[in-house]
Amino acid sequence: MTSRLRFAVVGNPIAHSRSPEIHQLFARQFGIELTYEKLLAPVDDFAAVAKAFFDDGGSGLNVTVPFKQDAARWVDVLDPTAAAVGAVNTIYAGSAARAEDDQQIWHGANTDGAGLLADLVRLGWPVQGQRIALLGAGGAARGALHALLQAAPASVVVANRTRATAEQLARELAPSAPAVPLLTEAPVALREPFDLLINATSLGLSAGAEAFSALLPRLGLDGTRCYDMVYGDNTAFLRFAADRSAAAIADGFGMLIGQAAVAFEHWHGVRPSLEDTLKALQA
Ligand code: ATR
Repeated sequence: MTSRLRFAVVGNPIAHSRSPEIHQLFARQFGIELTYEKLLAPVDDFAAVAKAFFDDGGSGLNVTVPFKQDAARWVDVLDPTAAAVGAVNTIYAGSAARAEDDQQIWHGANTDGAGLLADLVRLGWPVQGQRIALLGAGGAARGALHALLQAAPASVVVANRTRATAEQLARELAPSAPAVPLLTEAPVALREPFDLLINATSLGLSAGAEAFSALLPRLGLDGTRCYDMVYGDNTAFLRFAADRSAAAIADGFGMLIGQAAVAFEHWHGVRPSLEDTLKALQA
């Protein structure tokens, strides 16, 4: 019997996930043979699905909505970024603490923010020294904010419909980058020019461009690059940004591949090319 390296992504829902396709493309770049499945877990039982997968010989797991916080509790050791963000999207095998221990240690990483930064690099959009506005303060915003703060922006404003959630997030993550001015603002009040505006809300999944116009009635985007963490050719947020004459727009597909590439590196020790993978998927 040949046993292949076995990976999976667990979520609920999970049918839409493109992770199997992306990881198979990565594996081909390096001549690695692996299987990569989608696992649907009951919303209240991430732990049983994760345990069964690893007991059955699984090598590594990606974790998506709504289980990233459950995964942070499940692993044995949290990487520093996952600890700061409180969420895990990648589980990988670590070495046992002592040589005589043969028990497997599972590490949790959060590669979402690194994926965002990698895509911004690919686009040639700087972060260092830039005035950044982050729209949203939920799960997706957390990883993004942590990564952005580590990249020495001039300032970051977190703007969320529910102001208290933005304040809580800013309080939690400000200590990770004490030198960066980190403010919160009501979206409706945003008007100052930003260099980079990032949408980390789920608003566009259920509403059109006009919902963003209503949320941000005063914000001019003339000199602003606009990034949607949601992916798709013509997202509601990017239509809004184009209508307001944004300097440039990009959707989150490159971030999706970027976070997967960093996960792949945890498992295989090599980082796939973002550009080559994007080209292969768009072909
Ligand atoms: P995710 O994991 O996708 O980040 P989440 O944690 O539920 O999902 O966060 C959703 C984000 O989208 C939040 O910032 C949310 O704002 P609230 O904190 O005010 O709920 C934002 N969001 C969702 N629907 C929205 C809407 N109709 N208008 C403005 N913001 C919205």
